[in-house]
Amino acid sequence: MQQSQILRSLCLLAVFSSMTAVVLGICDSCQTNNVACLNETHYRMCSANVAPNQILKCGEGKVCTEYTAICLDENAVTPACPADGANGSCETCDGTNLFVCTSRTTFQMCDGTTLTDQVTYCKDNKVCSISSGKYCVDSCEITGSVECDRAAP
Ligand SMILES: *[C@@H]1O[C@H](CO)[C@@H](O)[C@H](O)[C@H]1NC(C)=O
Ligand SMILES: *[C@@H]1O[C@H](CO)[C@@H](O)[C@H](O)[C@H]1NC(C)=O
Repeated sequence: MQQSQILRSLCLLAVFSSMTAVVLGICDSCQTNNVACLNETHYRMCSANVAPNQILKCGEGKVCTEYTAICLDENAVTPACPADGANGSCETCDGTNLFVCTSRTTFQMCDGTTLTDQVTYCKDNKVCSISSGKYCVDSCEITGSVECDRAAP
């Protein structure tokens, strides 16, 4: 899968430059271009000197990206925080698991086959990974695809 190749190169890059900053665009997480994409089209600034809680919108036909230009043509790039796509990839409570990732950055407990409604958030810049046994890991530690590639639970 192309995504995992990108991830792998990003991890190598991160290792070699020992960067601790985010390299992977994840929703509502400050990126190297100093914005956090909130969804496909909206973002917020990450500068400490900008008043918080201001949401900006990309222009018509543009999407929020991790690149310097921030908003780029939707046909040219993948948004850093894509719309909630098919649920398909997110695990459900099957009676054998205790926790499931309910988005890229959240997980919830299972009560048998029922998902309980308390949402637990990963730390900033961490990705939900129940299979890792650590609940959340650095994006570099993800070898395959993200367990639940969704913006929000
Ligand atoms: C993106 O997020 C903004 C701010 O929360 C919201 O107003 C907007 O409707 C969202 N857009 C989409 C496509 O979800
Ligand atoms: C996602 O999963 C929820 C809960 O199982 C379901 O209600 C919803 O319809 C699903 N959405 C999509 C797009 O499959």
